[in-house]
Amino acid sequence: MDPKLWTRIDEFLEARLVRDDDALQAAVRASADAGLPDIAVTPTQGKLLQLLAQVAGARRVLEIGSLGGFSTIWLARGLEPGGHVVSLELDPGHAAIARANLERAGLGQRVTIRIGAALDTLPALAAERAAPFDLVFIDADKERMADYVDWAVRLGRTGTLIVIDNVVRAGGVLDAHSADAAIVGTRRAFDFVAAHPRLSATAVQTVGRKGHDGWLVARVNAPDAPA
Ligand code: SAH
Ligand code: DHB
Ligand code: MG
Repeated sequence: MDPKLWTRIDEFLEARLVRDDDALQAAVRASADAGLPDIAVTPTQGKLLQLLAQVAGARRVLEIGSLGGFSTIWLARGLEPGGHVVSLELDPGHAAIARANLERAGLGQRVTIRIGAALDTLPALAAERAAPFDLVFIDADKERMADYVDWAVRLGRTGTLIVIDNVVRAGGVLDAHSADAAIVGTRRAFDFVAAHPRLSATAVQTVGRKGHDGWLVARVNAPDAPA
């Protein structure tokens, strides 16, 4: 385990595969200047979000947890023409930074940030009966991760892709007796996904400049499809 090596490898990968630009750099700088925590996805992960949205042909993307909008920029860049991202954020201060970063990236028209606790804004979205989401990125409070997966399925359709950040936490997920609500919530989410009749899923561990963690990736299957 050598976190310094992981960071050097991320730098290698970023230099070759992930084109950085003024909008992304400005978003990182503005978020740091505003005192936001340094917990956005890494550039290589952001690029993967964009690629997944593109492969999915996503016209409607739902994000839970905007922070400064770094992951949101990547998701919005992966949209089909005319597509839209709805990003849910509890903290109005975070949402304001995210909006400014998205405007600067030229994506203001393609993203709506909804302020509030996601367990309030998700039912509101459902009540609006808008078209289903093609891709859902779950990256908010880990305590309620299982509820967010439940809502992602409800707001999705057969074929919707669900991506969840931070499901490994440097191995913290192994602790069945953890007093950490984030770990308890993450483990509950694994149980929820495993037992869900419509979800086919895997998870991959990741290392990099943000340490050791992982993503869970799931597909919503047809209601009557075999698991
Ligand atoms: N997706 C972002 C990082 C999100 S960090 C990126 O990669 O760039 C997690 C965010 O979830 C924080 O901004 C936090 O304020 C927000 N959050 C925490 N609890 C929430 C809740 N109950 N509802 C909505 N957002 C919440
Ligand atoms: C935390 C949250 C995240 O979404 C993340 O990617 C890393 C850390 C946190 O709350 O500590
Ligand atoms: Mg995260």
